[in-house]
Amino acid sequence: SKGTYDSYMLKEIDEQPAVLRRIVQKYFSDDRIQIDSELLHELAQADRIYIVAAGTSYHAGLVGKNLLEQLAQIPVEVELASEFGYHLPQLSKHPFFIFLSQSGETADSRQALVQIKDLHYPILTLTNVPNSTLAREADYTLLLHAGPEIAVASTKAYTAQIAVQVILAQALSQEKELTPSKPLAVQQQLGLAANAMQSLVDAKEEIQALVQKYFSKQETVFFIGRGNGYAVALEAALKLKEVSYIHAEGFAAGELKHGTIALIEEQTPVVAFILEGQTAAHTRGNIREVVSRGAQAIVVSQRQFSQKGDQIIFANLDERINALAAIVPMQLLAYYAALERGNDVDQPRNLAKSVTVE
Ligand code: M6R
Repeated sequence: SKGTYDSYMLKEIDEQPAVLRRIVQKYFSDDRIQIDSELLHELAQADRIYIVAAGTSYHAGLVGKNLLEQLAQIPVEVELASEFGYHLPQLSKHPFFIFLSQSGETADSRQALVQIKDLHYPILTLTNVPNSTLAREADYTLLLHAGPEIAVASTKAYTAQIAVQVILAQALSQEKELTPSKPLAVQQQLGLAANAMQSLVDAKEEIQALVQKYFSKQETVFFIGRGNGYAVALEAALKLKEVSYIHAEGFAAGELKHGTIALIEEQTPVVAFILEGQTAAHTRGNIREVVSRGAQAIVVSQRQFSQKGDQIIFANLDERINALAAIVPMQLLAYYAALERGNDVDQPRNLAKSVTVE
């Protein structure tokens, strides 16, 4: 039930710190990761991982790719299920497939899974719904433990998918006996991320004020970032589009000058993510470029990379996992923009929670 909430979307956004803590509880015992050793063994044999998903789950996969490549040193491709099923790429010799699906029922993903099963490649499904079709038809399943997600716009399943992929990447790294040059204290970092998320959901009035200040009269909003910030930009744009119906686009910050900067007009809101040290200065440069063309910049930064004037600043986390925090204010932004426009936030027009047609 919605309890004291007016909408499932806001309730599910608020639940994210608790979901993250629950995931840690479920996947750790005595500080050790609990994942089926057969699964890890089979994953460790793979020469490439293919992550297949749609919509928000695809965006979670983009973050998962970075985590798996960095922590487990394995090449990863992220594929849109609707494309992949009918246009199989040249596969590697020993591929391993990960399907990401909140519902476990998405027809596009199912179609792709059937193709892969025919080829007898190993399949892992990450899903929120035990016994869903994609869970039953895969060789292995890892659950998201996010609790039922009712709002059409996916929020807690996205952060849960990222968290489970972090844990999986770490477990695979251990299975392969890698000694990372920059180890990740997964359990501790997920705890810190839950705290950061809590502070962000507690500051929701500030996000509502930003919506009133920047989004009231705007018909178009851009989101830019690099690395995980780019992945978050894509998800932030999707969230805003689907519930507020405001036209939104996510771009790689460095691509702006290759064309899209032509779209910037007086007052266009541009939300920029500063999530990593290595590219912070470049993204700051991109922000200056859009501001000098009349855009209004809204900057989301991690404290250590923040500057005076940044509108949303969150606590320092390991750069590899800070997408978990950065997306939360974006979900709230979408929620308040939808509310302002009088939209049905839980049941946006033209959309269904589970897309069971191809
Ligand atoms: O259940 P799934 O994760 O397979 O669903 C995939 C997409 O249909 C889903 O993420 C969709 O994009 C959401 N409405 C996004 O908020």
